[in-house]
Amino acid sequence: MRATQSEIDTAVEALRSGELVAFPTETVYGLGANAADPAGVAKIFALKGRPADHPVIVHLDHPRYLHRWVATMPPVAERLAAMFWPGPLTLILPKAPSVLEIVTGGQPTIGIRVPSHPMAQQLLTAFGGGIAAPSANRYGRLSPTRAEHVREEFGDAVRVVLDGGETSIGLESTIVSCLGDAVRLLRPGFITRSQLEKIAGPLTVDGAVPRVPGDRQLHYAPATPLEIVTSDDLEARAGEWTEREQKVGVLALRPPLNAQRHMTWINAGKKADTYAHHLYNHLRTLDRVGCAKILVQAPPADERWAATRDRLQRAAGIGGPAPDIGAE
Ligand code: TXA
Ligand code: MG
Repeated sequence: MRATQSEIDTAVEALRSGELVAFPTETVYGLGANAADPAGVAKIFALKGRPADHPVIVHLDHPRYLHRWVATMPPVAERLAAMFWPGPLTLILPKAPSVLEIVTGGQPTIGIRVPSHPMAQQLLTAFGGGIAAPSANRYGRLSPTRAEHVREEFGDAVRVVLDGGETSIGLESTIVSCLGDAVRLLRPGFITRSQLEKIAGPLTVDGAVPRVPGDRQLHYAPATPLEIVTSDDLEARAGEWTEREQKVGVLALRPPLNAQRHMTWINAGKKADTYAHHLYNHLRTLDRVGCAKILVQAPPADERWAATRDRLQRAAGIGGPAPDIGAE
């Protein structure tokens, strides 16, 4: 889980010379650049094919340098940070004046995260500054949970890829905005709504949602069209494809009732965290099989599955703004 000193030296040198460094976090791999270098951050946008108005998260090793990035830290944000950092939580906060426009997408706010992954911590501490990093995938595609996913997607365009093995959580961080008096859940993640509410009190749910790229339909999507269906319908719906001799992929929480030719069935089990950990990898596998369709069994309704439901709904192209999802 730790990089060698020479790997870290090479990565820091790359960041200082405006190059990109992919690194593991506990959620997914990030595609990092020096957050104070506009040309470096511009390379992230170019490589991902990401629209310029979509802000990127700044990663820090510790909140001690927060004042360089954040204008004011609301008390509720202090409490959330004290509870969940380092960890899979991104806070949207009022930005400090010096923060680059390319980092914030021209907005008056900044996303900050202090990741807990030891290799991310090593890199951030050695670098000594903020690292701007979205997930290390092309715009709209599945986030990488292994170093080889980054290499497959970007090849040598990324100067350094630090390999920290498979990420433990497997879905992107929970994003919470703390602006004025309102605390809003913008993207569900491993840290659940009730965990947040224990610290922050009831979250604000309204229409005033800052822009997040995840609100675009077909975000976090495999290449194969994906549809969410109920458990009762899985075999019959799969049959519609296999009868026509077309390949179909199924991602389920149970084994199939019957085996069918042309059907690749993945039983991802009923444990929310394990399912989330493997989700993107399973979708990559089904993509590679060359199916005409991926059918996904609708996950349970309880809040431990909120992040998974959110990503699957977006992958199916039925994603709405995150606050509508997992609001139960
Ligand atoms: O787990 C994660 O958050 C990973 C790892 C690498 O840290 N990063 C990640 O970044 O998922 P990205 O760019 O793929 O998704 C971050 C989301 C985007 O939807 C972005 O628009 C939103 O955070 N975001 C960043 N800054 C923001 C801001 N100032 N206001 C609103 N949304 C913001
Ligand atoms: Mg992303």
